[in-house]
Amino acid sequence: MCNILYISSSPRGSASYSNQVAEKVIRDLRAKDPDASLTVRDLAREPLPHIDDDFVAATRGAQGPSTDRQRTILARSDALVDELLAADIVVIAAPMINFSVSTTLKSWFDYVARAGRTFRYSEAGPQGLVTAKRVIIVSASGGVYSGENAAFDFQVPWLRNMLGFLGMTNVEVIRVEGTALGPQAAEQALARASDQASDIVAGLAAA
Ligand SMILES: Cc1cc2nc3c(=O)[nH]c(=O)nc-3n(C[C@H](O)[C@H](O)[C@H](O)COP(=O)(O)O)c2cc1C
Repeated sequence: MCNILYISSSPRGSASYSNQVAEKVIRDLRAKDPDASLTVRDLAREPLPHIDDDFVAATRGAQGPSTDRQRTILARSDALVDELLAADIVVIAAPMINFSVSTTLKSWFDYVARAGRTFRYSEAGPQGLVTAKRVIIVSASGGVYSGENAAFDFQVPWLRNMLGFLGMTNVEVIRVEGTALGPQAAEQALARASDQASDIVAGLAAA
């Protein structure tokens, strides 16, 4: 059975294009594998608190957690790591916010990037421990970044880099771009992204 982890992070609720396309990806995945399980991590509805000194003490301190608050933080981080490690397919709905990911999605990475659990330092340099996953990113942006404005895109390259650091290198990107260029452009972008989603899911080996 295939486990799908859906990470949603748009602050725009039901108007979100990244959510719409990510949810189509999930519908297609489940049509292909009706036994697939789905875990939804909605970072917009349930944002993670920013990391702080207790987070650092709990997850990186030599002594480990020493207060109830630190133990709670470590348990939250561990649960998110477990959820990620249990997934076969990770679908990330990522709106572009100020040229990057939303802070809610950045916080999720802060919680799951854990030395000894999701990456480790070896003599050859850092090694990602979150392997054998397929990742599908649905990036939605008001502007268009797949052409001459690529240098302003600190979202998709950052996501690829961060996922790769953790060991996730099998990454597909679906772009819903130009959503701020008028309703017609947005509809066209949505239709293109939906077609791309169908192609990607159809191309996946049967689970
Ligand atoms: C606070 C905020 C900041 C944004 N910053 C950018 C930006 O830097 N570049 C861009 O192209 N679009 C930007 N946008 C537009 C969004 O990327 C666009 O609305 C996209 O569709 C959001 O994804 P969603 O539809 O999944 O919510 C921003 C939107 C908001 C609400």
